[in-house]
Amino acid sequence: MNKVAVTETQASIVTPTDIIKQALDSHDQVKISFSGAEDVVLIDMACNLGENFEVFSLDTGRLHPETYQFIEEVRNYYGLDINVISPDGTAVAELVKSKGLYSFYEDGHQQCCGVRKIEPLRRHLATAQAWMTGQRQDQSPTRSNVPQVQVDTAFSDDDHQVIKYNPLSEWRSSDVWHYIRENDLPYNKLHDQGFQSIGCEPCTRPVGPNQHERAGRWWWEEATKKECGLHMINVTEP
Ligand code: ADX
Ligand code: SF4
Repeated sequence: MNKVAVTETQASIVTPTDIIKQALDSHDQVKISFSGAEDVVLIDMACNLGENFEVFSLDTGRLHPETYQFIEEVRNYYGLDINVISPDGTAVAELVKSKGLYSFYEDGHQQCCGVRKIEPLRRHLATAQAWMTGQRQDQSPTRSNVPQVQVDTAFSDDDHQVIKYNPLSEWRSSDVWHYIRENDLPYNKLHDQGFQSIGCEPCTRPVGPNQHERAGRWWWEEATKKECGLHMINVTEP
């Protein structure tokens, strides 16, 4: 496969729609990752631009019922196939048998996230040219430098390069919600219950007034550790 260079021209791209168009024009297929939260805006924009994308969600087995319902709602709303990816059953069973269902409260979330999210994502991106995420710089200290386009070194190797598109990187939360309201998009009902950032049910709680939106994710850990490995490049690249 020819390697795609991240070029100077990409630096001049400013809007999320421009980034998505660039992605769709550059690859046979782009895999859009959908967490079941406000990243629905990526799907909306992509649907307005083309068809050579796949939407996938990593089903950790621990998502909220509202998130499963929302994924289904989005499938119906856009008439889209959504690839809902399960973790390896044997690996989950081994983890739960040896460490129980809530090991992440005791020894950190990396092992459980590794089994339920990272390994499935690695498998899914093994032959992919490009994927897309809803990460934003305003989400967390670990994301303050997230670019709109990057080579994802965490999921690339010598023979296979994966480009990672983060079209919303320069948008703020308010921009995303303005887009959702303006376009009357469906959204996860958890947002009406005080949830801002939404992950797995045991590792996510609502946030109070003046709390940062990711304060409710892995709340028992430091802010600088709040990456699960999907976006490990944020904390491993200089
Ligand atoms: S996480 O790494 O801490 O869980 P976060 O919830 O902030 O990530 O979401 C950032 C982006 O990561 C989402 O917009 C989405 O692109 C991707 N993502 C997160 N969780 C999932 C998931 N379960 N399935 C697919 N993509 C996901
Ligand atoms: Fe496991 Fe929590 Fe990570 Fe979900 S967010 S995979 S439940 S540690």
